[in-house]
Amino acid sequence: MDILTGPNVHIKDKTAVNEKIKALMKGGSKSLQVISDFDRTLSRHSYKGKVCPSCHGILESGLVMSESTRMELQELKTKYYSIEIDHNMTIKEKIPYMIEWYEKSHTIMLGANILKDHIADSVRESNVRLKDGCDEMFTLLNNHSVPLLIFSAGVGDILKEVISQKSTFHPNMKIVSNFMKFNEKGKMIGFLSDLIHVFNKNEGSLCHSQYFNDIRHRHNILLLGDSMGDLHMADGVEDVSTCLKIGYLNDKVDVLLDSFMDAWDIVLTDDQSMDVTNAILSLVTAE
Ligand code: TMP
Ligand code: MG
Repeated sequence: MDILTGPNVHIKDKTAVNEKIKALMKGGSKSLQVISDFDRTLSRHSYKGKVCPSCHGILESGLVMSESTRMELQELKTKYYSIEIDHNMTIKEKIPYMIEWYEKSHTIMLGANILKDHIADSVRESNVRLKDGCDEMFTLLNNHSVPLLIFSAGVGDILKEVISQKSTFHPNMKIVSNFMKFNEKGKMIGFLSDLIHVFNKNEGSLCHSQYFNDIRHRHNILLLGDSMGDLHMADGVEDVSTCLKIGYLNDKVDVLLDSFMDAWDIVLTDDQSMDVTNAILSLVTAE
């Protein structure tokens, strides 16, 4: 495939990737399900040289939070994001820090007087952007009735709003994420279900075994992510035949590329588009 020969495409085992693509094509759309992370996978890491906000970043906008709250959350991010991507630590070592980050961050959010009514405006006024080609991907999957699970350690209410504003939230899409709980006055008072952080997506996926059970005849998976934790998003799927993993590497490419190439079938560096994914999906869904 020409699209796999670009300078930003890194593949350790080309034969294995070709075999997997052939297997996905053989199974076609009826055997396929797509499982994707949101922040920095479906959403852009940057646009015209400026970093785009994540779900949490959108909530930190002036519309929702005071300057001092924003500073507190930024300080947490500076400390804990470097741990999230530290290649000298194991995932097991990182987990307690990630829990600490989310608990501290959620406590701050609870004191920040977040209102449901502010969500749509803060998304509208932010610089968040979906990657180029996301809209085409969503349409293609919906047209072929291929389920798309969006599995995010961000904030579910925000990402759903981003998709609704920037594209279309189709009926074949489902979100597993941290959804906020609001009181009758529309003030945020907590979260609806157990915490999903970057490295417990395996537990989250197992909890949603009903979702996977409903689509259990779909043995082929296209898995999209940008963090090592995203590799576990398909842990709830039984009897996987083929799982093609595409990893978007956005940060610290020089230090992380080798480990990403070991873990993901295809690694895309600084790719703010869904072009490679869409090219593969076009082949798989062409009947
Ligand atoms: P995800 O892309 O795997 O769903 O992860 C969401 C990202 O959000 C992850 O990099 C951690 C980050 N995050 C923040 O930016 N701010 C926060 O306050 C918290 C708790 C997480
Ligand atoms: Mg991500």
